[in-house]
Order: sequence, then structure tokens, then C-alpha cells
Amino acid sequence: MKEVRMGFVGCGFMGQIAHIANFSALPGCKMVAVADPREDMAAQVAARYGIQRVYKNHRELAKDDEIDAVAAILPHAANGPVARDLLSAGKHVLLEKPLGVSVAQGRSMVDAAAQAGVHLCVGYMKRFDAGVRWAREAIQAWRAEGKAPTFVRAHCYGGDWVCGNDERIVTDEPYPAIEIESGGPEGWDDEAKQDVQVFANIYAHNLNLVRFLLGGEMSVLSVTPHQDHMLVALAAGDTLVSLECGGMACQWWDEVTTTYFGDGFVDVKTPSPLLRNVPACVQRYRSGANAVTESPVLPWTWSFRNQAQGFLDTVRGEVEPVNTGADALKDLELIEEVIRRKRGL
Ligand SMILES: NC(=O)c1ccc[n+]([C@@H]2O[C@H](COP(=O)([O-])OP(=O)(O)OC[C@H]3O[C@@H](n4cnc5c(N)ncnc54)[C@H](O)[C@@H]3O)[C@@H](O)[C@H]2O)c1
Repeated sequence: MKEVRMGFVGCGFMGQIAHIANFSALPGCKMVAVADPREDMAAQVAARYGIQRVYKNHRELAKDDEIDAVAAILPHAANGPVARDLLSAGKHVLLEKPLGVSVAQGRSMVDAAAQAGVHLCVGYMKRFDAGVRWAREAIQAWRAEGKAPTFVRAHCYGGDWVCGNDERIVTDEPYPAIEIESGGPEGWDDEAKQDVQVFANIYAHNLNLVRFLLGGEMSVLSVTPHQDHMLVALAAGDTLVSLECGGMACQWWDEVTTTYFGDGFVDVKTPSPLLRNVPACVQRYRSGANAVTESPVLPWTWSFRNQAQGFLDTVRGEVEPVNTGADALKDLELIEEVIRRKRGL
């Protein structure tokens, strides 16, 4: 197996809890260097995972010729400039979601990857969940019988996404200043741009997941805000999609995506993001003379670990990525359209 030599930019919460730990556990992955302006913390993280080199910023890390690929796990407002520098230096890049702060910025990142001839992948880890994969295949098989989904109901009210998995190293070093490149289309005021970032933070996942389950393009039909909640209607070909956006304090993770056909449904209950080794709980129901409800018993796997494996396989040229920057750009397009309609812009 060809060794992939990895660099890490951003040693904060998700970097430590979800990414560095996963890459360091995978065979064929050599951890070469970390970079974070919070250098003391970066040095402690490097020591914890036996990583030799510590850089104070991504530009220094980008010059390290030993590094093939970089996981840059940053506040998404910092993704654009950092990713472009790394891509231009010829590194394959994995970012956390969403791709960036605006469609314009996302395009510049996708272009940078194409110009450098390297992969840009985005951390839509639900696409690597074993239950999500089962549901996607079930939907594809149903479609192969000539039946189209009629309706998708996507719902995310959030809840406890950490599940007590917080063994990170913390620091009191000052947080680096982040200059937001644009944050929304020309002419939008700061509130509208902020709205994009808040909506993108959670619901980029749901838009991305529905597109993965259904395939094809999706467009916004209407947006109905009501107090702190919002109902978004979308069209994916002949399928009507509703996305219920809101919040609820709870100890579990309240996220369900149901794909309906004329004669049944496929239901996906996605787990708390940081709940390790628990795939989505999925169920398929079909009516008729031999009506059946199926719920597969899936292996204990964690979407974030599978995603790290997928990135290594992509860098080795063994698979085509399912989480490309070009695909993630479609989520930013939908997000800007949602906010445009919400605010009547
Ligand atoms: N996939 C998911 O379900 C999920 C869940 C939570 C968060 N996220 C995403 O993870 C990302 C990171 O979140 P977090 O909680 O780890 O944030 P964090 O603030 O804890 O960590 C970010 C780290 O990046 C460093 N940093 C900031 N700017 C930098 C720069 N220019 N160069 C190098 N390092 C820089 C900071 O010092 C910090 O250590 C966000 O984009 C968020 O959307 C994804």
C-alpha cells in the first residue's frame, strides 16, 4: 500500500476529536506535521500523536515537500485562503464543511484545485456513514424498478452532537484573527452574510445528504421563516423536498431523512456526529401483498473514520471521491438562494 504523508492545519476541537485521531489510526498514513497559530497547543497535539514537525502557519507547512495531502480543519470562514495556498502548493486537501463562505469563494477554491491537478474534498462525513450508504443503495434499487421518489422529508433539530467525546488538549493562547473574504453575494449587508454562515453551519449537511441520497440537481422552491424556525421547500427532479430547520435541547441527535415512494419509504436516522462507531439507523418499508419492513444490522463504524479512509484512498488514486469541492459548491449555491429568498433580496 502506498504511504500517504499527511499534514494537519488546525488543531482545535474537530481537528483533535474527529480528524487527527482517525488519520493517525489508519494504516498507510504517515503523520508528518501540524500547523496552528496557537503553537503551544499544536506542539502538545503533535506530541500526543507522535508527529515530528510543528509549523506556526499553513504557509510554512505548504513548503514541506514530504507532505502529499493536508486535512485543514478550520472555522469555515478561514477555509478559502488556506485551501487555495495549500492546493497551489500541490497538496491534496480535505476541509471541514461547508466549503467556504460564499459561492464566489468556493468557485475560486475549486478552480485552484483544478489548476494544480489535486483533489479538494469536503468533510460531509454523513456520505461515509454505513447506514446512509445502505439507504442510498435501497433508493437506487427502487428507482431501477422505474419508480421515482415522491417526497423527501429532511429534518434536523440538532441536540447533543458531542456525546462526551471531548479529550482534546486546550489552550489559553489567543484565537487567531480570521479575515472573512466576502461571505455572500455583492451588495448583501452584514446581517444577510451572517445569515448565510449560520444556516450553512448546520443545514449544509442536510442539503448535501438529500443530494447524495437522490442524486441529480436540486433547486429552492420557497422559504418560510417563522420565528426561530424555517421551512424550506426544494425540488429534486420530480421529487418535492421539505427541509425543517429549527432547534431543540435534547440528549440525542434529532435528524431524520425520509425518502417516500408511492409504495413505501426509506428512513435514515443519522447519529450524533461525534458518537463513535454507530452508523445511521435505517429502515425500509414496502407495502403490497408481501409488505415488508427491513432494518439492517450494520457493522460498528464511524462516518468520520470512513471519511478519513476515503480521503487516503482518493489521494492514492484508488477511488473517485464522493465529497468533492465541486459538488460541495452546489450546497453553497442552494444556501445563498435560501437566504436570498428568506430576506427578500
Ligand atoms: N462535520 C461535522 O459534523 C462538524 C461538526 C462540528 C464542526 N464542524 C466544522 O469543523 C470546523 C472546525 O470547527 P472546530 O470546532 O474544530 O473549531 P475550533 O475553533 O475548535 O478549531 C479551529 C482551529 O483552527 C485554528 N485556526 C484558525 N484559523 C487558522 C488559520 N488561518 N490557519 C491555521 N489554523 C487556524 C484555530 O487556532 C483552532 O485551533 C468548522 O468548519 C465547523 O463547521 C463540522
